Amino acid sequence: CGIVGVTGTNKTVSILIDGLKRLEYRGYDSAGIYVNDQAGKDFLIKRAGRITNLEAALTPEVQGMAGIGHTRWATHGEPNQANAHPQYSADKRFYLVHNGVIENYKDLKEEYLSDVKFKSQTDTEVIVQLVDKFVTAYDMDTKAALLKVLRLISRDSSYAFALMDKEQPDTLYVAKNKSPLLVGIGKGYNMVGSDALSMLNETNEFMEIEDHELVIVQPDHVTIESFDNEEKHRDTFTVDMDPNAADKGAYPFYMLKEIDEQPAVMRRLVQEYLGANGKPQIDEKLLAQMQEADHLYIVGAGTSYHAGLVGARLFERFAQIPTSVHISSEFAYEQPLLSKKPFFIFLSQSGETADSREVLVHVNENKWPSLTITNVDKSTLSREATHTLLLYAGPEIAVASTKAYTAQVAVEAILAKALGEYLGLEAAQKFDVKDELAKVANGMQALVDSKDEIEAIASHALSKPRNAFYIGRGLDWSVSLEAALKLKEISYVQAEGFASGELKHGTIALIEKNTPVIGIITQSRTAGLTRSNLEETAARGANILTIASRHLAKEDDSIILPDVDEMISPLLSVVPAQLLAYYTSLGKGLDVDKPRNLAKSVTVQ
Ligand code: G6P
Repeated sequence: CGIVGVTGTNKTVSILIDGLKRLEYRGYDSAGIYVNDQAGKDFLIKRAGRITNLEAALTPEVQGMAGIGHTRWATHGEPNQANAHPQYSADKRFYLVHNGVIENYKDLKEEYLSDVKFKSQTDTEVIVQLVDKFVTAYDMDTKAALLKVLRLISRDSSYAFALMDKEQPDTLYVAKNKSPLLVGIGKGYNMVGSDALSMLNETNEFMEIEDHELVIVQPDHVTIESFDNEEKHRDTFTVDMDPNAADKGAYPFYMLKEIDEQPAVMRRLVQEYLGANGKPQIDEKLLAQMQEADHLYIVGAGTSYHAGLVGARLFERFAQIPTSVHISSEFAYEQPLLSKKPFFIFLSQSGETADSREVLVHVNENKWPSLTITNVDKSTLSREATHTLLLYAGPEIAVASTKAYTAQVAVEAILAKALGEYLGLEAAQKFDVKDELAKVANGMQALVDSKDEIEAIASHALSKPRNAFYIGRGLDWSVSLEAALKLKEISYVQAEGFASGELKHGTIALIEKNTPVIGIITQSRTAGLTRSNLEETAARGANILTIASRHLAKEDDSIILPDVDEMISPLLSVVPAQLLAYYTSLGKGLDVDKPRNLAKSVTVQ
């Protein structure tokens, strides 16, 4: 979910709506705002569905000097109007927006609120009713009541809260644990938001909030206190990002724009990380810490996890350090037996994924060194890790990640090369990453220029079937997983990425007449084997398609990829898969950028 709040300006409504639109990537099941004009009138407007539904419900009289807003990705309670935020207390005095999950909300409800009638199924309503209870029944002031509630919330809960009290309508009470939240410093007014981008139209000056702090935001003042009422000083920081970089331009969907931007992102990475002589410009302190490690642990979720699978092979090949890759939600609770000198690499487009952060908190508790590779400067994972490398991909808005995946793989390749060279390893010295990434950029351009061809394949092979397979070996298998995820998440085709040699051990039973099986063939050692595995499925009726590198291609291959070093072929083989998913979704008339049930940044565990 995304939250935003502002106090001290008569532009409150438009600032909230603009902020929510920029936060829609965090969820879009329902949305709402509460605004107060500080002259006796206030408004609560909520709608199921997208922000545009909320916007359509606003009348000119809805104006305010302060307010809070929310766009939701449902956790507790279905996405209807009653469960949308802000949630409010029975006497309509307190209004609360919340991102996260209160794990002990049922206990709190039973213990303190058995006499209260609830309007929603949300854990959030319990919190706002509880604040009200402590204020009215125990005669506490709002701050003391909120502090008492915050202390009662179990530590495994996650929250970013912004609370308003109708009786102090210029004040936002704000707190967080695990979920992200920043203060934005405006001129004569102040803001809060789940990320910097949501406030960037208004300000580029921000203040971090740490877990377990109570922050009081007023038009000309921000106070930060610990739960023990100790006041804290915090410096502000600036973020340099063009808020218009997040516009769609002439594209029908962000996803297509982002696919098309990939060649430019590759060139930007070359510029940022590789000097004129092609030598990686990576902080020596990072390389020194990595060099000391006896094992690299890559941690990520979704597409970032898939980028990690490719990265592991790059680190092992070029830096010769054993590397394993872990799904963050698994690693957080089923930690493998670690080596003596671990080094952690967090991959995260947003830098906010709650599951990944859970692992980082543990890593920091143990004082292990870490690196976050992320697209969002000063994001939580970036701020909290020892080192950061940025993806320089520009804002990625479509829920299905494309340019962040290829940027992650490219940064991993640059880092693996840098580390291998630092260690004096020949394989790394020979790998001309600058030249290869230049070839990748040109190759990507050729692929995105062949959209018509790929659209035709999507419409004839993927538009009807309910299921499909991507298969390959080694790096091609890693890409198969990402390719299948793209197809599933935006076109709702049940797709699986599979190790092609493993198919015959069970899964081949699923092959029926015309089941699409797409083979990825970029690795010389296994190309022949994957082709045989494809034939095995063809013999059972599959409709086989191939994505093959030119040097391994056969005449009837469906899509041919320009040649690059086989170690970084995923940068090219994934592009047709992104386009196949895009055109399948488009052909079905689906909302490509906002597939059902998903959110781009998942800040709950
Ligand atoms: C969500 C998105 C995925 C993304 C994953 C990890 O599930 O829908 O596209 O890969 O989160 O996000 P991160 O920002 O950590 O890369």
